[in-house]
Amino acid sequence: MNHWRAHRSGRRSRFFSSSASLAFLSALFTGLLLLFTQSGCKPSSGNAPGGDTIPVGEYTSLTGKEATYGISSHNATRMAVDEINSAGGVLGKQLRLICEDNQSKAGEAANAARKLISRDRVVALLGEVASSRTLEVAPIAQEAKIPLISPASTNPKVTEVGDYVFRVCFTDRFQGRVLADFALKTIKAKKLAILSDLKSDYSKGLAECFKERFVAKGGQIVAEPSYSGGDKDFKAQLTAIKGTEPDAILVPGYYTDVGLIVMQAKQLGIKVPLFGGDGWESPKLLSIGGAALEGHYFSTHYSMEVASPKIQSFVKHYQERYGEYPDALAALGYDSAYVLADAMKRAGTTESKALRDAIAATKDFETVTGKITIDAERNPQKPAVILTIKNGQFKLLETIQPD
Ligand code: PHE
Repeated sequence: MNHWRAHRSGRRSRFFSSSASLAFLSALFTGLLLLFTQSGCKPSSGNAPGGDTIPVGEYTSLTGKEATYGISSHNATRMAVDEINSAGGVLGKQLRLICEDNQSKAGEAANAARKLISRDRVVALLGEVASSRTLEVAPIAQEAKIPLISPASTNPKVTEVGDYVFRVCFTDRFQGRVLADFALKTIKAKKLAILSDLKSDYSKGLAECFKERFVAKGGQIVAEPSYSGGDKDFKAQLTAIKGTEPDAILVPGYYTDVGLIVMQAKQLGIKVPLFGGDGWESPKLLSIGGAALEGHYFSTHYSMEVASPKIQSFVKHYQERYGEYPDALAALGYDSAYVLADAMKRAGTTESKALRDAIAATKDFETVTGKITIDAERNPQKPAVILTIKNGQFKLLETIQPD
């Protein structure tokens, strides 16, 4: 159970205490809990209001359609901030992580970021996972000259917004190439269908990047229907795809939609492999798609199966703290906080221009998801992994190094 759910059930039980004083205390406690759960925040060691702390903003999807992205990423970001604070903090101060839930909704990420910048006066922003929501916030951060580090938004356009916008993950130019090579070499697919989400910058961008490489290497796209994130019935698109007899189907979407698509493909008797990108990564994918996912594939940022000491120690601590295994979103959230803290230390200040310059100068910085050097476009070059689903679990198949 994640801590956010634990809070909710705790809150409900407080409503039923009977004595007057208990009721008062309970109401007070409930109010406080409500405050924290609304922002999805629980105080961390450096979270005392005011005081000599450095406010860092995080905007993420703790509820709504892509909630597992935000919960994983937030849990690990908080873990990193707590570790940094217990090791003495940064520049003699504790980091104060202030987070805002955007409910996975368009428009809400911008609201959250505005609040963090003007109300909380944060010195930097961490977030979002989904590219469309980072693209909403990037111009706001750029305009306010508040450095923004996205942990997981892979759409190439994200960092093109301006020189205050960074990411700690690879881009879909790389992920598209990785998937195209995988389709051609490993699946041996020549004829391919793509089913993408019209509403998502991530989905459209990844489909484009994939196509560019796949077609250049001799592959053929035979069908390209689309859907709208949140749809429940994909049978019309899947029936049309089936009629074109592709060797495989690329589904560059998010887990809630992908789970249903994979299930309905099976119901329609589609036997060819389905595959996608990091958007598939969620423990919820397995509960939505069930057995229909067996033997399909996706690319993502890291695998717990890799035996590096950095990964193993991260997995152990996350597991001890949250009682579950960290996914790629957790790993990237954790890395984003460490990249920021490292830049603050090198800058020797949290003044915005100096901090921006220090993030831009990040070089050979060891993280859970690989060594990070921020290039001139404010992106790192990092490896990708391909996972498959076997016996209801994600299994590491290949690691692909950047060239
Ligand atoms: N890369 C996705 C996007 O840009 C987000 C994502 C990252 C989802 C990692 C799952 C895992 O929208």
